[in-house]
Amino acid sequence: MAQIIGGLGTSHVPSIGVALDRGLAGSDDWKPFFDGYDYPQKWMRDQRPDIAVVIFNDHGNSFFLDRVPTFAVGVADNYAPVDEGWGPRNIPSFKGAADLGWHFADQLVESHFDPMICREIEVDHGLQVPMELFCGRPDEGGEWPVKVLPIWVNTIQFPIPTPQRCWEMGEVLRRAIESFPGDDRVVIMGTGGLSHQLQGRRAGFLNPDADRQWLDTIASDPDHWRNMTREDYVETFGSEGAELMMWLVMRAAMNRDVSMLHKHYFVPASMTGAGCVVLENA
Ligand code: DHB
Ligand code: FE
Repeated sequence: MAQIIGGLGTSHVPSIGVALDRGLAGSDDWKPFFDGYDYPQKWMRDQRPDIAVVIFNDHGNSFFLDRVPTFAVGVADNYAPVDEGWGPRNIPSFKGAADLGWHFADQLVESHFDPMICREIEVDHGLQVPMELFCGRPDEGGEWPVKVLPIWVNTIQFPIPTPQRCWEMGEVLRRAIESFPGDDRVVIMGTGGLSHQLQGRRAGFLNPDADRQWLDTIASDPDHWRNMTREDYVETFGSEGAELMMWLVMRAAMNRDVSMLHKHYFVPASMTGAGCVVLENA
């Protein structure tokens, strides 16, 4: 059966992609942020996963406010990077792990979830940026080293799901991977956050203390975060910082006991507290 080899968490701020496109990763402003990804990239090279499950939210690029699925699962063979308004990016399309996508969708429905199932869709910075942060950019004409299974979570427009529901989806994800025939090595990427609010009266809101607490305890005490309400997430991390609940899908798919191999925090990247973790089952 397929095997979960680890869980990664990261921010997915779009300006990280722009910094990479413009060759600014080594600049004084950006270097302290990107340095934190040397270890995860080495971990990926050493671990050689076949598939990355990427949990992220679309930001009005592939879905808009006319159609807002709470959860969506990708079953496509290929996902093109969506143009978010700055023109097409010079990165390859993402090959889909379609068979695992169908198996996961089936297991979700069997477990009384009702996901939208997407056979044709483009992916925005929510998936593009984590893939580049963890895999590095493929050489010209090259390919990403892993296939992807995208999972979209609505963290944009109320009613967003509860943290508890994200957790339960992670439990189904684990069962789906561990019952998937073959010997694929699967890494799970929870993306979004950390604290940020891009709109309204609290635009510019950051909460580095809460961000540090999140990074310090997501491995050892996930129940604390799982038991919080949606409103708690918005209040603690900002309206867009509520994206952090998507890391719970990854965390719930792992063992109770995990080892945190790496943790990194940098604030602010654009308007956002940014960071990453690398977790392995203990
Ligand atoms: C920013 C952060 C995000 O998570 C996002 O999806 C868009 C923008 C920002 O900080 O600019
Ligand atoms: Fe986002």
